[in-house]
Amino acid sequence: MSQATTTVTLTAMPSGTTVEAEPGTTLLDALRRAGLMKHECDGGARCVNLCHLFVLEGRKSLSKIQREENEKLDTIVGASSKSRLACQAKLGEEPVTVELLSFV
Ligand code: FES
Repeated sequence: MSQATTTVTLTAMPSGTTVEAEPGTTLLDALRRAGLMKHECDGGARCVNLCHLFVLEGRKSLSKIQREENEKLDTIVGASSKSRLACQAKLGEEPVTVELLSFV
């Protein structure tokens, strides 16, 4: 039996900074720990533009988009099929690379 993964690597572009976090951690929590994301409203949809990022790799291993997140993404100018809200997307077992769109 293979050993269970304890942490997964999240890479934040454009800096290339990497963060190790447990599966189930939101992208926001992992990025906040690394000081890469500061503005947030804990999922209250008040900072949607600041919480918006693009997932470049590992999209399939993230938690699925729920209706509420989809509705919020619909309000963002420039959102695409790569878009997620950092507070809603949870890490899975595979490494993920994201592109940060706002600056702390
Ligand atoms: S933390 Fe505010 S919308 Fe995600």
